[in-house]
Amino acid sequence: MLQIRRVSKRFEGFAALGEIDLAVDRGEITGIVGTSGCGKSTLLRIVGGLETPSSGSVVLDGVTVAGPRPEVGLVFQEPRLMPWLSVRENVEFALARHPRGQRRPLAEAALARVGLGAVAEVLPQALSGGMAQRAAIARALVARPQVLLLDEPFSALDAFTRFGLQDHLLDIWRTDRPTMLFVTHDIEEALVLSDRVVVMRARPGRIHAQYRIDLPRPRPRTEARLQAWKERILEDLDLAVKTDAPDPEFAI
Ligand SMILES: Nc1ncnc2c1ncn2[C@@H]1O[C@H](COP(=O)(O)OP(=O)(O)OP(=O)(O)O)[C@@H](O)[C@H]1O
Ligand SMILES: [Mg+2]
Repeated sequence: MLQIRRVSKRFEGFAALGEIDLAVDRGEITGIVGTSGCGKSTLLRIVGGLETPSSGSVVLDGVTVAGPRPEVGLVFQEPRLMPWLSVRENVEFALARHPRGQRRPLAEAALARVGLGAVAEVLPQALSGGMAQRAAIARALVARPQVLLLDEPFSALDAFTRFGLQDHLLDIWRTDRPTMLFVTHDIEEALVLSDRVVVMRARPGRIHAQYRIDLPRPRPRTEARLQAWKERILEDLDLAVKTDAPDPEFAI
């Protein structure tokens, strides 16, 4: 159980986050959407222990988060691989607490799982953007974190790669059941993956609405009910297009 309790954040007087309250069940997938600057990354960084809240606390299984923790894995928008280490060594880096002899086989298995077994020994510069992001996901998952925090993990990727990695993330979730909190600009992505979608708004950053997406997975991206939720969320964000044009069915 992950509890975000009345968390707020100010940066030199600027209220980036108002008061955020959110309780996430173990194994739940929560998608966070909201316009730029509404505090999504700040919230995720606080949950990951990379930033301290100005007030409130984050409690993971009864323990207050006071810094980065090995049971919490992080994936950022850009892969952040160390260029002087091979892809495998980058993944092994997340296994510093494991006995030395276990690191290599675990890293190789994690890379095989994201389809990168063949490039384990190359340097990150030889990878495409999608491959590098898969390596970052392997690094975040190799220690089998109980909580996975993802900040726009696929936003720099083309649609095909993105769909593939979304499926991959769901595969991992099916076997390991990590609690996942992920930020995305893509409402459809949030709806396809999440048990719950949280809509944030800015000034100050706050939770504006929440939706429980109780559809079985895998969910077709074209599912009509997802479209209805999407329209609702676009309205929440003042992004729904209002038009006087006639309905296309009647236009001809
Ligand atoms: N270290 C910092 N110092 C000062 N202000 C900051 C800092 N980090 C974030 N902010 C401000 O806090 C607000 C929220 O930023 P944050 O990065 O969390 O937004 P976001 O929702 O992730 O936006 P985006 O979708 O563009 O990534 C923004 O107004 C930003 O300028
Ligand atoms: Mg952000």
